[in-house]
Amino acid sequence: MSIITKAIFPVAGLGTRFLPATKAQPKEMLPVVDKPLIQYAVEEAYNAGIREMIFVTGRHKRPIEDHFDTAFELEYELEQAGKNELLQLVQSIKPADMECVFVRQPKSLGLGHAVLCGERLVRGEPFAVLLADDLMVGEQPILKQMVEQFEQLQGSVLAVQEVPAEQTKRYGIVAGTMVNDRIMDVTRIVEKPAPEVAPSRLGVAGRYILTPAVFEQIRLQPRGVGNEIQLTDGIAGLLASEKVYAYRYEGKRYDCGSKEGFLEANVELALTHPQVGAWFRDYLKRLKLD
Ligand code: G1P
Repeated sequence: MSIITKAIFPVAGLGTRFLPATKAQPKEMLPVVDKPLIQYAVEEAYNAGIREMIFVTGRHKRPIEDHFDTAFELEYELEQAGKNELLQLVQSIKPADMECVFVRQPKSLGLGHAVLCGERLVRGEPFAVLLADDLMVGEQPILKQMVEQFEQLQGSVLAVQEVPAEQTKRYGIVAGTMVNDRIMDVTRIVEKPAPEVAPSRLGVAGRYILTPAVFEQIRLQPRGVGNEIQLTDGIAGLLASEKVYAYRYEGKRYDCGSKEGFLEANVELALTHPQVGAWFRDYLKRLKLD
């Protein structure tokens, strides 16, 4: 069994960038081709050996709970109609050995605060955090790569990627010493710095493996960027007492918190989709865009 058994999914955000689609629907339920964003993240965690999924939800997030619950009427009807493939598809969303727990974040006080809401459920173990907005695709699931790194390094691991200088303001940015091609021993982490003051161009993608000491550090930090309780600031606090590593993952990230990234994900995943991929490629060719 993997030593990381629990993952926190902060899913309480409002998703204002996708209005009107997100007026009455959680942004995490927006589908990329045919699967909601949150399911991609949960599958990634499951494929990394994690079995306990902790969702930090808010008001209007019921569809996420329903998505990972049994759908009695639907399953019954599919069974009666002999639609076994579809029945299996629906039942595979939550494998029998996967546990889903839901906890509410009563106020939108920031990502650090959302992670704190999962503290009791994590029960003092190292844990993963996955931001469903970031759809991560790799030959090896990104979180699985990170769990392997954590097992070797025995310190917190943050997924990072190089970002254009003008985009440092969108990310937690790390600096430190490269241990090898992919691993950095982090000495600094700053939330959303302007390019002029960014300590590097390595930006944190929405995948973390953290030690439970981070909870205390989050609590100790004053409000940060946007007057929010920031996870990045908690991680910065951790640096004084523990090793934190940044890991340049192998794979690709789609920023599905933005329309551009969401469209890219839909196009690229549609192209490799077993059912519609070939048709979609042909369709794009026929479009003859200039
Ligand atoms: C959050 C984190 C940021 C990280 C980013 C990755 O920001 O605060 O450090 O780089 O996720 O997607 P958000 O995108 O929620 O503003």
